[in-house]
Amino acid sequence: HTPPLRGSLPPEVALALRRGMATRICSPYAVTMPPMNDLAGKHIVLGLTGGIACYKAAELCRALIKAGATVQVVMTQAAEQFITPVTMQALSNRTVYGSQWDAREPNNMPHINLSREADAIVIAPCSADFMVKLVHGGADDLLSLMCLARPIDKVPLLLAPAMNREMWAHPATQRNMAQLSADGATILGVGSGFQACGETGDGRMLEPQELLEDIVAFFSPKLLAGQHVLVTAGPTFEAIDPIRGITNHSSGKMGFAITRAAREAGAQVTLVAGPVSLPTPRGVQRVNVKSAREMLAASVDAAQTATVFVATAAVADWRPATQANHKIKKDGSGQAPLLQFTENPDILHTIAQGERARSGQLFCVGFAAESQDLVNNAQAKRARKGIPLLVGNIGPLTFGQDDNEMLLVDAAGVQPLPRAPKLVLARKLIAEIARRMRAAA
Ligand code: CTP
Repeated sequence: HTPPLRGSLPPEVALALRRGMATRICSPYAVTMPPMNDLAGKHIVLGLTGGIACYKAAELCRALIKAGATVQVVMTQAAEQFITPVTMQALSNRTVYGSQWDAREPNNMPHINLSREADAIVIAPCSADFMVKLVHGGADDLLSLMCLARPIDKVPLLLAPAMNREMWAHPATQRNMAQLSADGATILGVGSGFQACGETGDGRMLEPQELLEDIVAFFSPKLLAGQHVLVTAGPTFEAIDPIRGITNHSSGKMGFAITRAAREAGAQVTLVAGPVSLPTPRGVQRVNVKSAREMLAASVDAAQTATVFVATAAVADWRPATQANHKIKKDGSGQAPLLQFTENPDILHTIAQGERARSGQLFCVGFAAESQDLVNNAQAKRARKGIPLLVGNIGPLTFGQDDNEMLLVDAAGVQPLPRAPKLVLARKLIAEIARRMRAAA
């Protein structure tokens, strides 16, 4: 079975697919869309209300199931104008509920039975009109009745609004949202861009993968609540002239995974990213930089308020001593230009020697990309950088991959983290950081 393909593929991948060969494609989305059981054991009631974004709810249903959840779909009559219960039944593998008078339930109380089973009710899309109902405790259809009847302390309500930008910006909608938030609902926010009505602005429903990321984060233990985590990620690029430069093979995947895991753990996160094309994890402030000196400036700035600094970036150790203003041309002599190099600032060392780190207000974690003798090199590097925790890995075996194996090195010794997807390792590292910070407090 050849999957439908859009856009052009690298020739070797296209050839492999034509031949039916299994091919490992390293996707930049692999870190943000891992094929992992992040929602295993969770039962989600997915409520659909009337809006064109119902077409995205089908994809969300699939994504939740792929992440290991079971999904019970409940639709309003308005939602059935946009997508059929047949589609949602086929995707969720369960009968869809639409009426509070549904006689299939022995006690004829679907609003009680369905809400008692749920680990969360997710309304996606949530229309402006349905918000009004929730605000006022309306209960004249199954979905609103179920939201009202849910045990409010045990079954969280997550809302993914979707509407035209004027409807979204209207004071009435904003007022209703604030009220729903005050009543304990979690508003997952909206996307921005081209809308089905032809207008452009805020109010689109978030994409299914964004919603999935938010729902996974919602269920994650808040190990770093109240903390501000600064992460550097990716390579740096040191220009030779306006056309060329030197860089390295770092893909940024590990740093982006740590960023996501820190946000899941409830931290405020600043990501200082070198030139990579990975999508920004949800709920994170990203600062894009190119050179080591730009990365230093952005990191020192964020480190003024950060409480955790994780330096995953593969910072270029040297930069060309001078940068030509125009492209360096061949001069016809057959001789290559002679480049002089200057050492770049050490970002981790600079921040680890700063006042906040030395007074215990900023917990610093370094990474070591080695090519050999990992234990000795990593221990020596931890001492040299003056940091409490260093993560060692073999650079050439991890750059660009979706999984990795790592070694945690601290004053007590070394602890291996066996091979796993980078997001799994990132979550373990965040838990280790949180444990050490608690112990130090
Ligand atoms: N690092 C940094 N700034 C630099 C160089 C490294 O912040 N100019 C950080 C990296 O982000 C990583 C750690 O220091 O967390 C170790 O980086 P690595 O490249 O493994 O080591 P180096 O310090 O460059 O030492 P060497 O190249 O000699 O192994």
